[in-house]
Amino acid sequence: MIWLIGNKGMLGTELALRFEAQHIPYIGTDREVDITNPAALAAFATHQGTGVITWIVNCAAYTAVDKAEDAPAVCRRLNAIGPANIAAAARSIGARLLHISTDYVFNGTGNRPYREDDPTDPIGVYGLTKRDGERTVFENNDRSYIIRTAWLYGKHGNNFVHTMLRLMQERDTLLVVHDQRGSPTWAGDLAQTVLTLITTVDAGTVIPYGIYHYTNEGNITWFDFAQEIYTQGRRLGLLTTDCTINPCTSDEFPAKVKRPHYSVLDKTKIKTALGLEIPAWNVSLEAFLKLGEGKRKTV
Ligand SMILES: NC(=O)c1ccc[n+]([C@@H]2O[C@H](COP(=O)([O-])OP(=O)(O)OC[C@H]3O[C@@H](n4cnc5c(N)ncnc54)[C@H](OP(=O)(O)O)[C@@H]3O)[C@@H](O)[C@H]2O)c1
Repeated sequence: MIWLIGNKGMLGTELALRFEAQHIPYIGTDREVDITNPAALAAFATHQGTGVITWIVNCAAYTAVDKAEDAPAVCRRLNAIGPANIAAAARSIGARLLHISTDYVFNGTGNRPYREDDPTDPIGVYGLTKRDGERTVFENNDRSYIIRTAWLYGKHGNNFVHTMLRLMQERDTLLVVHDQRGSPTWAGDLAQTVLTLITTVDAGTVIPYGIYHYTNEGNITWFDFAQEIYTQGRRLGLLTTDCTINPCTSDEFPAKVKRPHYSVLDKTKIKTALGLEIPAWNVSLEAFLKLGEGKRKTV
């Protein structure tokens, strides 16, 4: 059985939907089993009584990148100490761990897709604590997989697609940054990949433990992404008013934290290990919007 931690978050919700649809036994927890409390994790791991846990998937995290700058201790508890606790709990029951990390572990000054073994150099509190979380995971359970992803959007929670659809409907013009490059990634696709990794390992294929990168295919700027959201949103009837989108630089857009300018991840390792065909970012955006999921919850 899989223990899904953070089952109410954006990625956790997508995973729970897929576990249910594919009849994969799992049990989900969120804040009610606090990942910063090792005793609570240990008690749940050993006494929840509904089956033997063979995998823990951790989607819980502190994900408010800007707020993290003012709350480094809270962010560290969730992103570094929490994963250490989870990894230790997994080890104590002999379970494998699959943990999620981020492109923010890199400084974003690169000019070719980041590989898993490229040096990390986070430039903000969120990235730093996530990087430290990667280390604490492997220190506490060497039977661990970490998938780094980037630019996630999904049905549940605040994300760029929801925000853009709302603003495009409300405003005549929008400024969107044109100097940060990455790969928009539908949480549904990532959830399916997590599931594929677990079922592949459970079927007996040896997939080495370690770090893997996963995003949708292709890379663009936030401005390009906004333009595509607008084009598809108009075509699918999710947007009913005109909006002009103009490019700007990060310097023109006040933000608490510096964001990486280049966040593109090299996915060769996971594609080879799992034989994956990864959908292009714009194809997945269309699939997401056609499900009506862009409309369901606006922030
Ligand atoms: N979102 C992105 O663009 C992005 C990009 C790259 C990587 N990632 C990584 O992907 C993973 C999933 O991200 P996400 O966007 O799905 O996150 P999310 O929506 O913020 O979900 C995190 C979940 O963890 C819960 N949580 C908070 N504190 C907890 C605690 N002490 N104990 C147990 N659960 C707790 C949250 O509850 P509350 O909502 O009540 O706080 C929330 O349900 C994270 O590891 C994140 O770092 C995300």
